[in-house]
Amino acid sequence: MKKRIILGVTGASGCIYATRLAMHLKNKGHEVHLIPTQTAKLVIDYEKQSKLYDWCDKVFQIDDFFEEAASGSSSYDGMAIVPCSMGTLAKVSTGVADNLLVRSADVCLKENRPLVIVPREMPYNLIHLENMVKLFHARACIVSASPAFYRNPTTIEELVDTVIAKVLSHLKIEHDLSPDWKGHHA
Ligand SMILES: Cc1cc2nc3c(=O)[nH]c(=O)nc-3n(C[C@H](O)[C@H](O)[C@H](O)COP(=O)(O)O)c2cc1C
Repeated sequence: MKKRIILGVTGASGCIYATRLAMHLKNKGHEVHLIPTQTAKLVIDYEKQSKLYDWCDKVFQIDDFFEEAASGSSSYDGMAIVPCSMGTLAKVSTGVADNLLVRSADVCLKENRPLVIVPREMPYNLIHLENMVKLFHARACIVSASPAFYRNPTTIEELVDTVIAKVLSHLKIEHDLSPDWKGHHA
């Protein structure tokens, strides 16, 4: 069944994660509505990921609260914030819904829709970690940008997809990016 997913992108490094997520969603026939922050637009450009826009059905303005994503009466199936800056993480964890991305995440939580957050910072300070714990308690799924090397990826895209597989799974979207691990004994 076709799903409608909100993709929030912030000014954290790692826009390629957003590009790969949008690409896989579109290739599976789903609808992607993108909300980039102001800084995200700059980082998308800087990290040469402008093809992200090509995979999205709609691109919302960060300050337009009249868009459908701002309302709990809209019919979305979930939201991912990929990559998520520590600034946006703090706003979502404290309910400071002063832009469309944070408002949409707020709506997902209150409407019991999947909210998957891929934070990106290194190392984390106590504030970052406490904000993640708070969001975990609020029912968000924190998927760290921690790619799996045990699948022996040979390209950056394959490595990135090990993270995106988890994002898709937690958005409850079927995919074939990570075949079941059957165990391994040397
Ligand atoms: C190239 C670049 C990379 C950045 N990477 C990160 C990052 O990985 N994590 C983070 O929290 N902030 C990062 N920042 C800083 C954020 O962009 C900044 O805190 C900004 O206020 C985030 O705003 P936003 O959440 O509205 O996008 C980066 C900034 C630049 C210019």
